Amino acid sequence: MALRTAGSVLVVFLWSVAVVLGQNVWSVTYTTQSICVLEGSTVELSCSIRYPSGTVTSTYWFTKWGTGVEPEDLGQNPEYAGRLEYHGDKKNGHNLRITDLRESDSATYKFRFITDQTGGKYTGDPGVTLSVTALQVKVTPQQFSVYKTLTCSTTCTLTDNPTYIWYKNGQHLDESTSPQYKDPVSSNYEDSYSCAVKGHEDLHSPAVCVQGQSCSRVTYTKRRICVLKGSTVDISCAYVGYYSTTSTFWFRSDKSTPEDLTRDPGYTGRVKYTGTYRGPFTLRITDLREEDSAEYRFTFKTKKWGHSFPGTTLSVTGLQVKVTPAAEGQKTLTCITTCTLTDNPTYIWYRNGQNVQDTSSPMYSISSEDADSYYCAVKGHDGLSSPAVYKPKTSVSVSPSGEIVEGSSVTLTCSSDANPPVDKYTWYKKNGGGYQSMTGPQHVFNQIQSSDTGEYYCEAQNEMGTDRSRTMNMDVKYGPKSTSVSVSPSGGIVEDSSVTLTCSSDANPPVDKYTWYKKNGASLTGSEKTYNFTTISSEDSGEYYCEAENKYGRLISSSVSVDVQYGPKSTSVSVSPSGEIVEDSSVTLTCSSDANPPVDKYTWYKKNGVYYPSTTYMTTGPHLVFNHIKSSVTGEYYCEAWNGIKTGRSEYININVRYKPKNTSVSVSPSGEIVEGSSVTLTCSSDANPPVDKYIWYFQNKTFLNGFGQMYNISKFKSKDNGHYHCEAWNGRGSRNSTALMIILPGKQTSVLNAAAGIIVVVLVLILCLSGFMWFRKKASISTSDTRDISENVQGDSSPVYENVSSMAMAPTATKTAATVIQDDVHYASVHFSRFKNQEVPLYSTVQLHQPQKQDEDVQYDAVKFNLPSAANRPTAAQAAEEDSSVLYSTVNKP
Ligand SMILES: *[C@@H]1O[C@H](CO)[C@@H](O)[C@H](O)[C@H]1NC(C)=O
Ligand SMILES: *[C@@H]1O[C@H](CO)[C@@H](O)[C@H](O)[C@H]1NC(C)=O
Ligand SMILES: *[C@@H]1O[C@H](CO)[C@@H](O)[C@H](O)[C@H]1NC(C)=O
Ligand SMILES: *[C@@H]1O[C@H](CO)[C@@H](O)[C@H](O)[C@H]1NC(C)=O
Ligand SMILES: *[C@@H]1O[C@H](CO)[C@@H](O)[C@H](O)[C@H]1NC(C)=O
Repeated sequence: MALRTAGSVLVVFLWSVAVVLGQNVWSVTYTTQSICVLEGSTVELSCSIRYPSGTVTSTYWFTKWGTGVEPEDLGQNPEYAGRLEYHGDKKNGHNLRITDLRESDSATYKFRFITDQTGGKYTGDPGVTLSVTALQVKVTPQQFSVYKTLTCSTTCTLTDNPTYIWYKNGQHLDESTSPQYKDPVSSNYEDSYSCAVKGHEDLHSPAVCVQGQSCSRVTYTKRRICVLKGSTVDISCAYVGYYSTTSTFWFRSDKSTPEDLTRDPGYTGRVKYTGTYRGPFTLRITDLREEDSAEYRFTFKTKKWGHSFPGTTLSVTGLQVKVTPAAEGQKTLTCITTCTLTDNPTYIWYRNGQNVQDTSSPMYSISSEDADSYYCAVKGHDGLSSPAVYKPKTSVSVSPSGEIVEGSSVTLTCSSDANPPVDKYTWYKKNGGGYQSMTGPQHVFNQIQSSDTGEYYCEAQNEMGTDRSRTMNMDVKYGPKSTSVSVSPSGGIVEDSSVTLTCSSDANPPVDKYTWYKKNGASLTGSEKTYNFTTISSEDSGEYYCEAENKYGRLISSSVSVDVQYGPKSTSVSVSPSGEIVEDSSVTLTCSSDANPPVDKYTWYKKNGVYYPSTTYMTTGPHLVFNHIKSSVTGEYYCEAWNGIKTGRSEYININVRYKPKNTSVSVSPSGEIVEGSSVTLTCSSDANPPVDKYIWYFQNKTFLNGFGQMYNISKFKSKDNGHYHCEAWNGRGSRNSTALMIILPGKQTSVLNAAAGIIVVVLVLILCLSGFMWFRKKASISTSDTRDISENVQGDSSPVYENVSSMAMAPTATKTAATVIQDDVHYASVHFSRFKNQEVPLYSTVQLHQPQKQDEDVQYDAVKFNLPSAANRPTAAQAAEEDSSVLYSTVNKP
């Protein structure tokens, strides 16, 4: 890097020096100032120039400069037509090449250039002195000498120290660097000598006799001939044989042994000799071909004439038009040949087949935009014109033809008819707004892609111009790509709504067949791009996918999930365990529902009397749990399930809590005073589920015969019927005894009973007072004690124990957010009797109404309920109903 920088600096420095030195310096430096060359050969004059500033606008070589005018450009001099080649890059070398030099070309050549600056013209002096010389054999001394000296003479000293070649009688004799032949030669009348310069053997000197003029020799009329292909040439020479000659013929020098051309099969019918001794003896070749280009020599027998003496070189050339860019907007057409045509021909130009009259030069200038076709010819040989030059006529093709399928190999070919041949092809693709360019006459897509679809054209360019082909549309076909299914609407799908599935796929040609599938299901009917559900149902939930197909392939999409949401369906309640529900057992109600999304809120309702729905429980789970189910739970229930979409409601389910008889009691009829001999009916009542199906009656703890009905009749009540009555109620779940009822006919009481009656009255008054007091207290504390008592009874399924709620406490339609159970019978014992627990006073009584005697027919009785704390503390009056919590006594007074 540092080195490079240093280098750059150095270059800049040198350049600056050059600029400084070059200021106001005009110069033309010639490579050589003096040149001596052989006639017929080629010379190259060269120079380099320097000038202070500006741009060189024109340069040329000249030899003559008249006064007051610009010197004449050699290129314009007809003397040099076809023999000049000028290569100048306007800055460095300016080389002038002159071919087929003539002695008349000897002159001083100068270079002149003109810049765009005012007065910016300069001529390089003194120029190059060119001397053109022919070779000549000088024989000295000329007179009467036995031995003579031969010298190969020139009019100037040949440049580059040439080697001289000597020929004797047409045969190569010797070579030397001196122009003088090494030995004196004997003077006779037979031998001829000729010299040449090595490398320019064809420019040999004429053969001269050493003595006299009758030596054997051949003099070719022309050393070089350049003619058009297809034309006819005459190659001639004059020859002298020392004696009479025989067997004269022409041959090609490239044949190993001289062979008469007339016998050469390659020339059959095309060669003819004319002329005689001292001729010209002429070889005529007709219908010239390029392969006829060769050196032709003449030979003759008798006095032997050698074969190494160079003859006439024939060059056969075609005409060709060369196109070169010229000054701005111009092109120069040059009618070129591979050799310089002999006889300074006149050129003819044709435009579109029409003779262009205004020129005879080998050069013709046309506009760059010129779209015509041109060719040239040489006057006298109109039939041997050059091929025409024209700008390309371009067309585009695609292979293989027919449909282009992705992945295949496709070749675009730009064909062009053009002369000169196309030197540049450019492909363009119309790609949106821009163009992509590719080069080469062919553009190959090894594996064509769909992205290569587009419009293409090509441009072919030769020196004559550029032509654009028509636009070709390339349509790459391909099977479906990136098939996908979309669902509309995109959000949640609710049952009964309208849903459209759309199958999208990129394909060319477009997909012509769609197939719809549901995972784990049969393929669906419908071959459209869309698959419609007018009213979607929950059964339509699932994974859907589609297959897109065109003639080039098919592709299955990945599946999309269609999740149809719907409100709870077939909501139902189930009871567990199944079968009969027994009080105090654990029972679970389950609300089942089919819903999507799943139910997240359950509400339970219990039909409760006339108010409907009266009681509500809400649970987060589907379960309503009764841990110790009470008979009060009995009723009709249903549940409601809510999943955010709809509410599903179950049918009613009947919950029937079975329990054994309870609160069995005996009532007596008539209710009035029992008169001896009258009919008395005892009725046994009991709360039971299922209802009581069997009653057993007891009198004094003894079962009655026939006492199995709900009612027991004593048709004629006698004193022997006095005593304790109770009944036992049965259902399938068990039995319960009633409190004992004592029935005693009036007038049969003992004094003990009377005394007892007095005590009972006192106690009764006390009880009443106490009861009143307790009632007020109870009122104050009932809610807390209630709650405590029942709190264990119910709990919701997914929650811990919740407060129990009694049906009385809950107003109709009251709602609690947790699982709940109602016990409507929970109060009956505890409320009434809890306050008596500490009171160990046995309570029993025979109530005696002190009625006047006249009311003796009235029987009065009363029932007193009381708690029996324990059997041990219980007085005898309560013995009859030990199993029960209370004993009912009745005292019937008879005045
Ligand atoms: C589905 O519905 C869309 C829009 O309502 C309609 O354009 C399309 O044709 C329908 N497709 C079929 C298969 O019925
Ligand atoms: C009912 O009373 C009778 C007679 O005293 C007795 O035998 C029976 O066991 C009692 N039943 C119940 C359930 O207490
Ligand atoms: C008991 O007596 C009442 C009324 O006297 C009567 O209606 C009933 O049928 C009788 N029952 C039986 C079981 O005798
Ligand atoms: C027991 O039955 C009687 C009569 O049917 C009724 O008056 C009483 O309220 C009942 N007791 C309970 C606790 O149900
Ligand atoms: C009936 O039996 C119970 C206990 O079995 C007893 O307490 C009661 O005194 C008996 N009644 C009669 C009248 O015998």
